[in-house]
Amino acid sequence: MIRTILTYPNPALKKKSAPVTIITDSVRDLVKDMAETMYDAPGVGLAAPQIGVHQRVIIIDISGKNEPPDLIVAINPVIVLGEGEAYEEEGCLSVPDYAANVKRCARVIVKALNLEGEECTWKAEDLLAIAFQHEIDHLDGILFVDHLSALKRELFQRKARKAAEAKR
Ligand code: NI
Repeated sequence: MIRTILTYPNPALKKKSAPVTIITDSVRDLVKDMAETMYDAPGVGLAAPQIGVHQRVIIIDISGKNEPPDLIVAINPVIVLGEGEAYEEEGCLSVPDYAANVKRCARVIVKALNLEGEECTWKAEDLLAIAFQHEIDHLDGILFVDHLSALKRELFQRKARKAAEAKR
């Protein structure tokens, strides 16, 4: 089922998500819905809190194929190592019509559980490394715009307020 993606400034996006303790059917259903929602958008990543579920689950697919073979499902993901510097343009399904460059690690090692409950390790670089950092941020209530300089964030907030007023 395609779920509604919450958008800035919805306060649910600022809430920290809780670890998944046991992988049940409801977690499997959640991942299924997240994948459908992400591919429909379309996007390259989605975190559970973006559809209002505060559990530490993220999905990523940077293949551009928009179907499951390359889907990464990471439950309780943790960045165990980050190195190098990246400064690439990012966007977010929860922050429509806005993109900006964000400072990130260029390479990360991520550990997480997959849907079978097995511990997996990803050595990621480039776009995948950035996607992991961006999605894991969502689990801690952090949006990419929170990484911007004060001046840039101010410009973004002004733009968002104007867009919200125009919708009224
Ligand atoms: Ni995002």
